[in-house]
This record gives sequence, structure tokens and C-alpha cells, in this order.
Amino acid sequence: MTLYAKIVGTGSFLPAQRVTNEALVSQLALSGVESSSEWIVERTGIHARHFAQAHEFSSDLAYHASVQALDAAGLGPQDIDLIIVATSTPDMVFPSTACILQHKLSQLHEAAAGIAGAPAFDVQAVCSGFIYALTVADAMIRAGNARRALVVGAEVFSRLLDFKDRTTCVLFGDGAGAVVLQASETPGILASDLHADGQHVGILCVPGHVNAGAVSGNPLLQMDGQAVFKLAVGLLHGAALSALAKAQMVEADIDWLIPHQANIRIIQSTAKKLKLPMERVILTVQDHGNTSAASIPLALDVAVRSGQVKAGQHLLLEGVGGGFTWGAVVLRF
Ligand SMILES: CC(C)(COP(=O)(O)OP(=O)(O)OC[C@H]1O[C@@H](n2cnc3c(N)ncnc32)[C@H](O)[C@@H]1OP(=O)(O)O)[C@@H](O)C(=O)NCCC(=O)NCCS
Repeated sequence: MTLYAKIVGTGSFLPAQRVTNEALVSQLALSGVESSSEWIVERTGIHARHFAQAHEFSSDLAYHASVQALDAAGLGPQDIDLIIVATSTPDMVFPSTACILQHKLSQLHEAAAGIAGAPAFDVQAVCSGFIYALTVADAMIRAGNARRALVVGAEVFSRLLDFKDRTTCVLFGDGAGAVVLQASETPGILASDLHADGQHVGILCVPGHVNAGAVSGNPLLQMDGQAVFKLAVGLLHGAALSALAKAQMVEADIDWLIPHQANIRIIQSTAKKLKLPMERVILTVQDHGNTSAASIPLALDVAVRSGQVKAGQHLLLEGVGGGFTWGAVVLRF
């Protein structure tokens, strides 16, 4: 009998504060930074993003998305025996956001306390984080080390933005998405393909670190946008083809492409290379901006709740981000 990991519930959460391009551009103008909604829309496809309040952390966003995913699966926290959170904006240096999330979930109701004791850890692969986390959870389920996993992407990227740098601060937003994965005799995750190449660390990074009670180095996001753009399309295409080949499938077998939502032009180029019409691509970048590790599970949940993604369909998820890291997952929903 082949054992699969199957998605049995999805959820997502966006902080209440929605910031349109117009609002952001007006805010930037106050500190002498020039931009325009037209530029942002034309170069990125982004119209708005959500920003968390100072008291909201990745674990809070993750908590709300997780509760929704558990409800959709008809399960409670006590049914979960593995928690993986993909994030580059953890609540603390340590312990992991996954441990903080576990504690918050354990307080949902009396029975929820049963989630205590399940292994919980974070995965840090920036915008590819959810693809990495899903792959790790899939492997643990298929190896018999877990039966029901909560896999979450959660970010408060607004904390890392340099609002004096117009080339980066208009691109990112905050949010969370979650899935419940369950061991199943019916497919499930069919194939995965992960990669990293550390020679590109410098083109997209937050180099600051805590040192002797202070931050050493730049604690804000810096990026060579054009270098990232050029690398992203080719790498995503390679990973997508490789994951499809491992699943013994071809591009035409895919019902929906759910890409990392960084930039509409990267998404369009990737879809074109895969010969997939844009009607078969889930798009949320216009409303969410780039929410890093949260963007794929957020887009998946939006597509499930809108009725676009249906049970039995084949999905191709793909992500690329700092590291450089990239990867793709093919699954039957
Ligand atoms: C960042 C990005 C949108 C910039 O678009 P681009 O077409 O490459 O634009 P350029 O960097 O060539 O800049 C063109 C001009 O627009 C200006 N510009 C940059 N940001 C601007 C902004 N927010 N508003 C107005 N003008 C802006 C630049 O200063 C430059 O002006 P100049 O010609 O006078 O020097 C694009 O490179 C990109 O999307 N890269 C990938 C980023 C990404 O997805 N990162 C996350 C990966 S996980």
C-alpha cells in the first residue's frame, strides 16, 4: 500500500489593515520618497497589501489561519501530531514560531491541550519556505513519523521593509496560510523538487543580526530586483518540469498553477513557459503583494474558498526566494 500525504483543510488570515498603493504612495511622499500607483501596478501587478499592527506577530497570523484550516478539515488541535511553520519573520530569535503557535492552539478549548507534545519547528527558506515545509511534512508522513501535520506559512514582512527604498517597500505584505496534511491511501502530494544555491545570498537578504544586545548590520530587506527577476523565471521552470517528471505528468495535466505571488510579470513568464493560460493560474498578488512564505498557502486557500480549486484536481505549487531557494510540488487536491 502506498501512503500519501493529502491536504484535508486549508485556511488563511490577513491583518485588518489594508494598504492600497495610493495610501502607501502618499505615506512615502511624506518622507520625500517618490512613487506612483501606476508604476507599482505596471511593474508588479500589486494594487494593495495588508500590514500587521505592532502587536500582531507571525504566530498570531499563523494561529488564525490554522484554526480555519483545522475547521475546514473537521479536526481540532489535539488531532495534530506535527507542526511546521515556514517563516523568515519569527516572533523571536528562538524558540520557534511553531512552538509559540502550538501553545496558542493548545488554549483554544479544553481538548486542544492535546496538541502539546507534538514536534514543532520552523523552516527558513524565505519565499520558498512553504514549498520546503510541505515537502518535509510529506516525507515525515510517508515515513510514518506523523499522521496529521499542520503546515503554515506566516509572515510580517512589513517589519523588515525600508520605507526609504522605493524599489523594495512597495512589493511586500503580511499574512498567513495553512494546510492540514493527513496520511491517506489516496493521492495526495505526488512529487516535490527542492533546490538552493547559496552563491546568490547577497541579491535578496536581510543581513542584520543580533550581537551583544544590539543589531549588527542592516536589519532591513535589501534586494537586487533585476538579478532576482532574471534568475526566478528559469529556476521556477526547471523545478516545475522536474516535479512534473517525478510525478510522471506533463504541463497539460495541471488544472491550476499556484505560484509564489511576488510579481505578475514573473508569474506570467512562468505560466507562458509551461504553456498554461493565465485562466489556469491562481492570482492574489494584486490584493496581497508578496507575503513570502505565506503567499502560496494564502493563494491556495483563496482559490479553495472561491470554488476555483476542487477536490480531485491537480495542482502545481512553485516558489522562489532568498538564498537563493526554489522548488515545486505537484499534488492531487
Ligand atoms: C523590483 C522590480 C519591480 C523593479 O522593476 P524593473 O522593471 O526592474 O525596474 P528597474 O529596477 O529597472 O527601475 C526602473 C526605474 O523605476 C524606478 N523605480 C523603482 N522603484 C520604483 C517605485 N516604487 N516607484 C517609482 N519608480 C520606481 C527606478 O529607480 C528606475 O528609475 P531610473 O530608470 O530613473 O533609474 C523588478 O525588478 C522585480 O519585480 N524584481 C523581482 C523582485 C521580486 O519578485 N522579489 C521577490 C522574489 S521572492
